[in-house]
Amino acid sequence: MSANYQAKWPMDLGAPAESLEAKQPDIDNGLDVYPPSRYYSKEFMDLEMERLWPRVWLLAGVTSDIPEDGDYTTFEVGREQFIIVRQEDESIKAFYNVCPHRGNRVCLNESGSAASFTCAFHGWRFGINGKLESITDEETFDPRLIAHRPGLNEVRCDSVGGIIFINMDGKAPPLREYLGLPDGYIEQYEVDKMKVVHHVRSAWKANWKIGVDAFYETYHLPHVHPQTQGVMEDFSQNDLYPNGASRMIVPICTKSHRIEDQESVDPYQAFMLAEVGIDPETFSGTAQEVREAVQQAKRERAKKVGLDHYENFTDGQLTDSWATGLFPNVQMGMHPEGVFIMRFLPDADDPELFYYETMILYRPVDDPSYKVPAWMGLPEGTDTSGEVRPDIIHVPVGESPNLGEVLDQDAELLPIVQKGVRSRGFRGSLYGEQEQRVRHFETELDRYINGDK
Ligand code: FES
Ligand SMILES: [Fe+2]
Repeated sequence: MSANYQAKWPMDLGAPAESLEAKQPDIDNGLDVYPPSRYYSKEFMDLEMERLWPRVWLLAGVTSDIPEDGDYTTFEVGREQFIIVRQEDESIKAFYNVCPHRGNRVCLNESGSAASFTCAFHGWRFGINGKLESITDEETFDPRLIAHRPGLNEVRCDSVGGIIFINMDGKAPPLREYLGLPDGYIEQYEVDKMKVVHHVRSAWKANWKIGVDAFYETYHLPHVHPQTQGVMEDFSQNDLYPNGASRMIVPICTKSHRIEDQESVDPYQAFMLAEVGIDPETFSGTAQEVREAVQQAKRERAKKVGLDHYENFTDGQLTDSWATGLFPNVQMGMHPEGVFIMRFLPDADDPELFYYETMILYRPVDDPSYKVPAWMGLPEGTDTSGEVRPDIIHVPVGESPNLGEVLDQDAELLPIVQKGVRSRGFRGSLYGEQEQRVRHFETELDRYINGDK
């Protein structure tokens, strides 16, 4: 039986085949039910550490965070940490954050700017290009031991459209091939012109895949986030790309098809009208006409403030969320105004703990009529000028990431799901068509774990 047996779904927005919005051809990922131990066992976590994380391209940062040579940022996944640093020739290099002398972390800050890196243990110094610059009391070392001039251990690093990726594996395919997305898909958003305006890393008591799975579907919206129904369609268009990548288009500014009244404008819709300068009091359209009205207003506003790249966007892109999943642990909410990057990062030791990291990027526009959209969930008073790079806010287990009601609901739910999946009474997830992205992800993961990739 095909996984896509039901004609009634998936939803298709009907975009032309050559458009980036087009529904992708179905991929049949079968009907396997995976053993739930993948969500809690130490053995499975160790397999991921050995066969998954070192071999995939991982989103390590954004180029706008390190504009000048010597600017660096760090990235941590499980037991590994990396320094990502801008070079004098503007290229970007990445290194394990490990001193070749006795293994200390060379860089102790999360980000910064440096002319060189000096290890705090015995003072060995390394250039921003990773090369060894000096060994303290070098004459006390037998020259044969240090003849290779041990520098920082480099990993592959590449970027696409302002987003930086690293890869620990020399044999992995090049980044663009690996990502599986059509050419220009990421680039069109010009993320390199966006700035991180909010950055939170919150610890959740669940396996990292419980996180990915939950954010890869809108099936749970009417149940966990019923308040979204007035302004969001939960039957999203789901698209599967090669190598585990996927996308769901979530129509926004529109009421869920589950709501009977498609005439009167929902208060959330009214808010979105107001946000783009349309007075909801005088708006004469129905609820079904709000999405288009907002799209038109955004197009006009873009012209007015000189955002020429809007011409590349479809109308749908101006309102909808293109939630784009990069295998294995990233989802990016792509919008013309900004991009909401979420990373699901495993803990180094505990399979039932992950870090939900959100980096909110915004393209500052110097025009009073241009407002930061509410979907970004930015706390009051957030500086969106792009002039100050905010520090990462670390949120401990059990505390709210403070990113709005919807994410609080997820944060509360997932630790409960985690308890359930490790029950003896749970036999493994049963995915419906609305969860095809989840299956696509879990299937790709199995290829790595089983040695097929
Ligand atoms: S561990 Fe770095 S200088 Fe000794
Ligand atoms: Fe959710």
